[in-house]
Amino acid sequence: MDVTNQTDDEQARLWNGHAGRAWVEAQEVLDQMLRPFEDLLVQAACAAYGGRVLDVGCGTGSTTLAVARRLGAKGRCIGVDISDPMIAAARARAEQEDTPASFICDNVQTYAFEPASFDMIISRFGVMFFNDSVRAFANLRRAAKDDAEFRFIAWRSASENPFMTTAERAAAPLLPNLPSRRPDAPGQFAFADRRRVCNILKESGWAEIDIRPIDVVCTLPEKELIHYLTWLGPVGLILQQADDQTRSQVIDAVRAAFDPYVHGVEVRFAAACWMVCARAPSASSSYIHMLR
Ligand SMILES: C[S@@+](CC[C@H](N)C(=O)[O-])C[C@H]1O[C@@H](n2cnc3c(N)ncnc32)[C@H](O)[C@@H]1O
Repeated sequence: MDVTNQTDDEQARLWNGHAGRAWVEAQEVLDQMLRPFEDLLVQAACAAYGGRVLDVGCGTGSTTLAVARRLGAKGRCIGVDISDPMIAAARARAEQEDTPASFICDNVQTYAFEPASFDMIISRFGVMFFNDSVRAFANLRRAAKDDAEFRFIAWRSASENPFMTTAERAAAPLLPNLPSRRPDAPGQFAFADRRRVCNILKESGWAEIDIRPIDVVCTLPEKELIHYLTWLGPVGLILQQADDQTRSQVIDAVRAAFDPYVHGVEVRFAAACWMVCARAPSASSSYIHMLR
């Protein structure tokens, strides 16, 4: 589907534009960097479940494919994402490696999933971008079977994740138009506030909510660092329109600011995240809750 023609959502434009292309461009590096989170989700999805698993905001499909591979004949994994270029990349990967995963290109807030059709819903950093999170999570609740688990990973605050804001802090003096991050607005750190996440889940009909901090070491090759910082995040976005002189000044300043994270051929940082779990209450447990 051509999402850009159907919505004026800023996030849809971003993920169908520069951000989507950047994630496709950097797919291998990002998948390496975020691999520890994939392992956590695959372990959880495949330890207890067969059946149908939905991967929300699946992007270029790494977690969807990993779950599908591990489930084998025990089940099926379906990825959903609003980004045309990212879903095209995910489908190409599935075809290339002959993994029976399938993908839906649509908006999780509004897509008409088959009701009560998923045994588990997972997401690696794919749920912080909705302009109406309650609507999106309620839609996922309808798509989940009773007792299905919803498990996702989201970033804690920007201040707990200094690696993620290194580029913009270093580039700010050179890029006066660099947009500042808005807490609570859709975006990478929208779920930093644990209470807010809990309220969104409760309001959208999820129960047994458990939100735990996890601190995970992530790595990427040093030789990919310039590519990473010139394509991704707010600095990557602005650099696409910058003149050559500004661009090279920004790259020098930003690359130097990453020095504390460089250890030989490897860039290493700690990612401060939430592991969030919730469960779709069954009709009987909702009834008991109402009686209390
Ligand atoms: C940070 S990326 C994570 C991608 C993937 N989960 C991964 O770990 O590689 C966030 C993803 O959420 C998707 N997304 C944002 N808003 C969405 C929406 N309303 N419906 C579906 N997907 C959405 C984006 O297109 C993007 O692929």
